[in-house]
Amino acid sequence: MTDEVRRAADILRRGGLVAFPTETVYGLGADASNPSAVARLYSVKRRPADHPVIVHFSSPRLAFTWAREVPEAAIRLARDFWPGPLTLILKRSEKARDFVTGGQDAVGVRVPAHPIAHEMLERFGGGVAAPSANRFGEVSPTTAAHVHADLGADADLVLEGGQTEVGIESTIVDLSAGAPVLLRPGHISRQDLERAIGALGGKTAGAPRHSGGLERHYAPRTPARMVPTHELDREIARLKDKVAVLAFSKPDERVDFWLRMPRDARAYAKKLYASLRELDGAGCEAILIEAPPGEPEWAAVRDRLERACG
Ligand code: TXA
Ligand code: MG
Repeated sequence: MTDEVRRAADILRRGGLVAFPTETVYGLGADASNPSAVARLYSVKRRPADHPVIVHFSSPRLAFTWAREVPEAAIRLARDFWPGPLTLILKRSEKARDFVTGGQDAVGVRVPAHPIAHEMLERFGGGVAAPSANRFGEVSPTTAAHVHADLGADADLVLEGGQTEVGIESTIVDLSAGAPVLLRPGHISRQDLERAIGALGGKTAGAPRHSGGLERHYAPRTPARMVPTHELDREIARLKDKVAVLAFSKPDERVDFWLRMPRDARAYAKKLYASLRELDGAGCEAILIEAPPGEPEWAAVRDRLERACG
């Protein structure tokens, strides 16, 4: 155990805020049982109070004490995918109070795999409420430098853990209302989940509110647009030097800010947010994003790109 991790656990215990790496994105953590710590977390994030946060634990056993019912599907998913990039929405126990669930009767729980997150959670011993460590609605951080740029001054400590492995937020499955529903696609795909627990339902109007479901979220400041490959050339010709491009193909000489992305969906996800941040920093009038393929393995990337485009 490093001194920094020990310090992090002490800060959490005293009601402070710690930014920490997970395998998905960096989180901004607070003691999930402490109302004033969570209130400060919401105010730093500028997050509306009725939006629930995910609570993080060092083990499935601890995580399940925050639920009053643990369905068979939760046990299977925990066995197959925890620790890892998966969040389960479960009917809450009395430990999950309104200030973490946004007043809903369900709580989001996750056991992250990143060794620094795990050590911190183990040392702390309780649940840590942690949204992504960026201001509400903006692109999630995948390096400690992103966290410092976004809200470093407002955290009591930022733990350094390098670039995150997955690069996009955890897959969220709602098990709180009968048939399992995929609320947010991620690195663990619908196919992976269905192999473990059978068919998943789609989102319905009655599904729990979750901020990742808002239309414009994970968005750069520069207006971004997805364009099919065959229209990319025409759009570049129209916008020329005022445009930044995220694409699979080689840079076009007419464009100063061009980032080339991998053709593998997981490699793409890992680079996505850092790339959007870089292009956002170019100060162009628009970001053009070459649309990724329609195959199922691109579902999570497509979801984030659609949100980035508003
Ligand atoms: O990978 C991740 O999930 C990262 C890392 C830090 O763990 N966290 C993250 O948190 O993405 P955040 O707050 O940016 O997004 C969490 C999503 C939100 O859309 C939130 O509203 C939803 O999970 N959520 C949390 N608790 C919920 C609940 N009780 N019911 C429905 N949705 C919930
Ligand atoms: Mg977020």
